[in-house]
Amino acid sequence: VTQKSTYTTLPSVLLVGPSGAGKTALLTLLERGPLSAPAGEKPSLTGPASPAPTHTSQAPAAVELAVSTDGTSSFRDDLDATGATAKRFLLIDTPGHAKLRRLALSHLSPAKPSTSPTSSYSATPKSRLKGLVFVLDAAALADGDALPATAAYLYDVLLALQKRASGAKGSKPPPAIPVLIAANKLDLFTALPAALVKSNLEAELGRIRKTRSRGLLDSGVGADDDVAGIEEGDDWLGEYGSDKFSFKQMLEFDIEVEVVGGSVLGDGPGADRWWKWIGQRA
Ligand code: GTP
Ligand code: MG
Repeated sequence: VTQKSTYTTLPSVLLVGPSGAGKTALLTLLERGPLSAPAGEKPSLTGPASPAPTHTSQAPAAVELAVSTDGTSSFRDDLDATGATAKRFLLIDTPGHAKLRRLALSHLSPAKPSTSPTSSYSATPKSRLKGLVFVLDAAALADGDALPATAAYLYDVLLALQKRASGAKGSKPPPAIPVLIAANKLDLFTALPAALVKSNLEAELGRIRKTRSRGLLDSGVGADDDVAGIEEGDDWLGEYGSDKFSFKQMLEFDIEVEVVGGSVLGDGPGADRWWKWIGQRA
């Protein structure tokens, strides 16, 4: 059950991640359920019957979705037909292209009066953001370049959330935003399983953290000096001064991070676990 409509005060969940990861494909799946295709045939995402074909996104888009109030309904359920009481929320798609990411990240800065009249959903109070889904291509991650590029974007996202949680000095921080890392395309046999996606990302985020903080460490500021703390502009992600990065360190900032495998297309584990995560937090 979906409709594009005024989305002023609905809770929202943000889809981010590198280009080609499958964000728009996931949005389309959750919006309309598995596209009906004759048995044995791959659903076409580009056919004329499909108003939202996936292609490199250049502008953010949002759809309104509904989940039963206990968060257990399937995205295939027609809640209007079952008469279930539903909560409505927005799923916001963002472009993954490196040059267009600033918009996605701007959602994560602490709530402030919106000054940009240019984007249609900027009226959405940022404090209504209930969760963030970082979609990545687990098959692409298996080879070379994709891991550093994917991790670099994830680093920026997690750091923005960390700053959001720790930035507001003196004032109460906005509600923490949980993160789901959706390891997509597990229908492909080349895809890394979720556990490996997780450990590879943690290792790579640790490397990035070292590189980006080199100046800081060389200046003699160590783990024991709490002068450094987590200041504005500090690029240290997670537990300050720790050697290895792990997603658990984000809990210090109240940020829960979970890696869950799945697939939007093909014969894979599907998207049900992601939907469940989204539905419970929206
Ligand atoms: P940008 O808009 O550029 O940020 O990319 P995106 O994350 O929106 O990617 P999109 O949804 O356009 O998907 C990219 C390609 O991956 C499309 O050709 C999809 O059909 C394909 N794709 C998405 N999900 C899956 C999946 O689970 N398995 C397979 N095999 N392909 C997928
Ligand atoms: Mg897209």
